[in-house]
Amino acid sequence: MDAFISLQKSIEKLIRIKCSNYKEDYIKRRILSRMRLTDNADFEAYHKYLLTNPQEHELLKNALTINVTRFFRDPEVFEVIRREMLPELVRRKNSIRIWCAGCATGEEPYSLAILAYEQMLLHKDVSVTIYATDIDTTALQKAMAGTYDSKALENVDEKRLRKHFISRDDGTFEVRPHIKNLVKFREHDLMSGVPVAWYLDAVTCRNVTIYFNQKQKNDLTHLFHSALAADGYYVIGKTEYLAREVEHLFTPYNTMQKILRKVASTTPD
Ligand SMILES: C[S@@+](CC[C@H](N)C(=O)[O-])C[C@H]1O[C@@H](n2cnc3c(N)ncnc32)[C@H](O)[C@@H]1O
Repeated sequence: MDAFISLQKSIEKLIRIKCSNYKEDYIKRRILSRMRLTDNADFEAYHKYLLTNPQEHELLKNALTINVTRFFRDPEVFEVIRREMLPELVRRKNSIRIWCAGCATGEEPYSLAILAYEQMLLHKDVSVTIYATDIDTTALQKAMAGTYDSKALENVDEKRLRKHFISRDDGTFEVRPHIKNLVKFREHDLMSGVPVAWYLDAVTCRNVTIYFNQKQKNDLTHLFHSALAADGYYVIGKTEYLAREVEHLFTPYNTMQKILRKVASTTPD
């Protein structure tokens, strides 16, 4: 059997992604990028590597689903944001600023905006701005349009769907203006070394840095640390962690849901 076909069969079995759903060219490009990062010269070698290295399953899955996102992805994380993080911020401040870094097609920042809006209804003097950035301009265009099919909205309950989305005849749903207005989309490269704003109250950067090497990841952690205000929150992906060299910059707030808080610098950076 052709080495690529045989690899695809294993991918479907091991990580349950149906390769035939994607264009072959796309799948090949993503696999080639994992092959480069894992030093495998051809499909056959990478196939062996995949079979013998279980940690590669998640990494390949992320590579294949690079722009993949959804509303309230990992609902437990958003539950802590809703129940604890936003109410705590609202108690302390009346102008809250959140950076959603690597926002892809907008589902994550709009999820945050829905929760923020719910807080704003309880506290009329509070304003919230969500800066949502990504390097991928095509993804950002979709984000700004704010129209989604029902698959992206699986984690949105009926009540929120009615309140925050306009249902279209073609079966899609458009985010309503009161939610759209809370989010400012902007093109931004996380490797640029410049934050989108300073004195932020929270940064979410989830499932973004899979192509970054360790130094790039650590530099980004430093960048987020300096862009956050004192006690600011840092939300990372469920399978992500901070390297030892940068661990001291944040203290765990909720270890399970990967929510951290800034530790104030004692020495200048
Ligand atoms: C899998 S999506 C994650 C979306 C969302 N954060 C989530 O967890 O559902 C990863 C996004 O990171 C973006 N990305 C990758 N490298 C980036 C970079 N250097 N700067 C900004 N965004 C980047 C990609 O364009 C993609 O839209």
